[in-house]
Amino acid sequence: MPQSHPPKGFNTRSPFYSPKVLHKVLIFLDYLVSIQAADIKDLFRLAFASTMVSYSNYSYEPSLGRRVSAGKSEFLDGLVGEVIARKLTEFSEDIRWFQAHKPQKETEIKVIEASFFEYEKYLAAGSIDLIITSPPYLNNYHYNRNTRPHLYWLDFVEQPGDFKNLEHANFGKYWQTVREQARLDLDFCLPNSDLPQKLELLRAQKPEKGIYGGNGWANYAAAYFNDCYKFVSGIYYALKPGGSALVVIGNSILQGILMPTDQYLGAIAQKVGLELVGIDIPRATRVGNSIIQSDVRTVKAKKSHQLYEAIVELRKV
Ligand SMILES: C[S@@+](CC[C@H](N)C(=O)[O-])C[C@H]1O[C@@H](n2cnc3c(N)ncnc32)[C@H](O)[C@@H]1O
Repeated sequence: MPQSHPPKGFNTRSPFYSPKVLHKVLIFLDYLVSIQAADIKDLFRLAFASTMVSYSNYSYEPSLGRRVSAGKSEFLDGLVGEVIARKLTEFSEDIRWFQAHKPQKETEIKVIEASFFEYEKYLAAGSIDLIITSPPYLNNYHYNRNTRPHLYWLDFVEQPGDFKNLEHANFGKYWQTVREQARLDLDFCLPNSDLPQKLELLRAQKPEKGIYGGNGWANYAAAYFNDCYKFVSGIYYALKPGGSALVVIGNSILQGILMPTDQYLGAIAQKVGLELVGIDIPRATRVGNSIIQSDVRTVKAKKSHQLYEAIVELRKV
């Protein structure tokens, strides 16, 4: 019998794991306890984290929801240990590749477990050659909700209150948090851009829908672009003169209105003194998310509106 237990505070509408699967997961967690080397233990935890939803009764559609709601059958039994072992094999192949290709020069690798917005605490001004990053998109993808299983099962949180700090530190605010506020505006000006007008257009949509109407979405977008401003200010601060940043970001459609987030980010970056070297679009189609697909919350996106993914290239001169 397994000694481990499912995390106490983790409640779901229907059981996250079917009984047979749960038994296997708990046996795996028992095994985890027996691993002495902390870095090896972390790899096992990561292998569990990256597979744990695949044998659960939930799936990403792309938000986390019950399999049955997406027309899929419940996951009653199946391989667990084998799936985790396969993932570990992939890790070991990556590690082997890295060891064969690692730079000759001894390099120090540091993982900073903090919000990017704390950059001044961890990074010296003008110290970074290259930034490669991808902030959240303007699609209200709820990282806290979508990673709830991982956060609970890996002991990062124990109760709902533990999410507060994460929510506060998140890039942008969740729509659910700002939709009831009277009015949230940009806290910077952007003279050569139509962003302020776009926000007004968005704000004017469906006032009869109250908190589900345009004002809530305009608040959400304004909070997002305010964080874009803080984000590019951080990039400016951290980069060496001549240093570059490559920012992967997707465009969005809110209430049927196209938001070229990549272009707005580029304009905001120029505002803080960065050079906009260019915007590349390596991926011209992207699967939409709940925002455009939901018929409750939004009007249908116009056919001509296309979601894409862009790389915004910035340089500090
Ligand atoms: C578009 S995803 C990029 C994912 C990444 N490319 C990857 O493959 O894991 C945006 C990520 O930014 C993270 N994030 C949100 N707010 C952040 C913050 N203030 N500091 C650092 N990361 C943040 C989210 O949790 C999410 O993992």
